[in-house]
Amino acid sequence: MADLSDLNPAHIPVLPDEVIEALQPAPGGVYVDCTAGLGGHAAMIARHITPGGVIVLNDLDQNNLESAKSLVGKSLGGGEKLLGVRGNFSDLPRTLKAEGIRADMVLADLGFASSQVDDPERGLSFRFSGPLDMRLDRDSVVTAAELVNTLPEHELVRILRDFGEEKHARRIASKLVAEREVVPITTTDRLADIVRSAVPGPRRSIHPATKTFQALRIAVNDELGSLEALLRVIGIALGKLAKGEQTWLRPGARIAFIAFHSLEDRPVKRAMSGWAADALVHNCTRKPIEASEGELATNPRSRSAKMRVCTAGAGTPG
Ligand SMILES: C[S@@+](CC[C@H](N)C(=O)[O-])C[C@H]1O[C@@H](n2cnc3c(N)ncnc32)[C@H](O)[C@@H]1O
Repeated sequence: MADLSDLNPAHIPVLPDEVIEALQPAPGGVYVDCTAGLGGHAAMIARHITPGGVIVLNDLDQNNLESAKSLVGKSLGGGEKLLGVRGNFSDLPRTLKAEGIRADMVLADLGFASSQVDDPERGLSFRFSGPLDMRLDRDSVVTAAELVNTLPEHELVRILRDFGEEKHARRIASKLVAEREVVPITTTDRLADIVRSAVPGPRRSIHPATKTFQALRIAVNDELGSLEALLRVIGIALGKLAKGEQTWLRPGARIAFIAFHSLEDRPVKRAMSGWAADALVHNCTRKPIEASEGELATNPRSRSAKMRVCTAGAGTPG
């Protein structure tokens, strides 16, 4: 069982036991966390790789990266290497190569952390009143308010459909365009009110603005583009391994992705199936790993988590 006793209660990681089982951390291991968040998974892994391992923490969000580094530092004995990298996970291989780091374990726990969604200033949730921002990387330029107030209507429709699977995309986009002409839409509550007023019919099981918020967040942060880019750089590294070339992944490295909705899970599934078909990986999970009843009872965010895992290299035949 994963030991969660030291972790920030604000962010208990999802699928803790399953991640340990999937990555099989061992002393001296090299762990690359593409999405460090508050360091929950990394702190768990850190206890297994001592003495002598390496932990690389990556995140777009400087505050999260600092929290993760501080938590993980407490779980290490002193002889290990801890490296924090701020940036998009698709750029991580460049740093790993420059540092001469070769990963035994790679984890990408996609999406946002509780520290981000629960901060009204980040504008990620309709549960709080705040500026319509939604940037995970606070140094990036485009906010959700900019998209909502400047994109042509057909672009808004596309975002709502493609990234939110919102069936009322046309109605919502048309209402947004009408409303922004009256006064620019700059807050989460106004956006939520406009969406609510645009969507017809009886009460839905989820808040009417859920899909609009998801869609805008994905667009602002180019989440699917970054995911595709990460899958691509992993695929390139796997291809090099297959040719016997040295790269930032070690043969036998375990690679795990945790997705929270089908738009994230689909490309992961597709990429892993392609790698398996090309004999670049083995031991792939056939079905995604999901939370146990016990976890579901204590961590509501785990409800939609789906983890897929594979092992780098073709494996031993027979
Ligand atoms: C679900 S949280 C990770 C939680 C972490 N596993 C833990 O146990 O605390 C996702 C994190 O990924 C970061 N993130 C999202 N997209 C990213 C990207 N393209 N590159 C780097 N970090 C990203 C977010 O800022 C957030 O901190």
